[in-house]
Amino acid sequence: MTEMETLQQDLLKQVENASNLAELDAVRVSVLGKKGIITEKMKTLGSMQPEERKVAGQQFNLLKEAVANAIESKKQSLEDAEINARLAKEAVDITLPVRPETQGRIHPLYQTYDEVIAIFGQMGFELAEGPDIEDDFHNFTALNTPKNHPARQMQDTFYLQAEENGERFIVRTQTSAVQIRTMEEKKPPIRIIVPGRTYRCDYDATHAPMFHQVEGLVVDTVTNMAHLKGCLIEFVKTFFELDKVPVRFRPSFFPFTEPSAEMDIGCSRQNGELKIGEGNDWLEILGCGMVHPNVLKACNIDPEVYQGFAFGIGLDRLAMLKYAIPDLRTFFESDLRWMKHYGFVPLDIPSVGAGLSMTGGNKR
Ligand code: DAH
Repeated sequence: MTEMETLQQDLLKQVENASNLAELDAVRVSVLGKKGIITEKMKTLGSMQPEERKVAGQQFNLLKEAVANAIESKKQSLEDAEINARLAKEAVDITLPVRPETQGRIHPLYQTYDEVIAIFGQMGFELAEGPDIEDDFHNFTALNTPKNHPARQMQDTFYLQAEENGERFIVRTQTSAVQIRTMEEKKPPIRIIVPGRTYRCDYDATHAPMFHQVEGLVVDTVTNMAHLKGCLIEFVKTFFELDKVPVRFRPSFFPFTEPSAEMDIGCSRQNGELKIGEGNDWLEILGCGMVHPNVLKACNIDPEVYQGFAFGIGLDRLAMLKYAIPDLRTFFESDLRWMKHYGFVPLDIPSVGAGLSMTGGNKR
């Protein structure tokens, strides 16, 4: 083997043995770089005789080309190997189970809350709130239910411990108390919607000691029973998403309204399934009536000039009916599985109640 052949074999081996790109580059510099083996050989051409130079020049060029080609193809294969290794390492394993979902849910009660507020908001009602701890005057007396009035027994009241002066506060049994707080503060025209917590000593599948009501009150100079009916029929249709719904208003009694009524909507109950808006059965959904003159008087509003209507709806009951939830007690058990089933995925839109003006407020 000639000296040239031995050299070429040796250089190609070096190229072949490079195990990564950095090593390969070191080989390249040591062979083809400014002071590389082949470069040094090229420099000797200048001192050769023309004949000798011609032969050597050709040999050097062939050697240079062979080594440069080998380096190029080695480089390509090292790069491919590197990419393949990275792809293997970074591969996404699509057989992995999905991550647990951490997004929360809107409680069906608060979904209902927002829906009711939005519907009455569109009819021009303002949102009002009042305290959970009430006094006897706002919860009963001013609502035409003085002490020893038999109607007080309709509501099983929770009393707080007596104050030093003997006064006993209660947790409100009805949102109707906010009617009084609003009328004390504002002159008519009044149109308010009052969602909130209420309390009574009661516990079974459809009663909880803490539950929710929404109260409505309209007071103006020309308000009559037709307004009351129109407003509530419109509400029921919108809330239950029905084009038509049979309704009936049954005479009833509430101390703070005269006349008083209970509103029923048509439904069917077949094979344990309740369908709202059709059928021959009736479902009671709210109490209502024309505001009793005594209530207006208790708030210094002249009943000769003003009249109004009011209504009270059980919010929990509305939620149970619309979303087919059979047991009220489950609302308050904070069971995450229940929330996942009945809850609502929060949408990235402003709350439907947003934009309503507030009146009244928590005084205590
Ligand atoms: N406060 C009543 C209750 O808890 C519900 C109610 C009935 C409210 C008639 C009203 C109304 O404003 O007019 O049973």
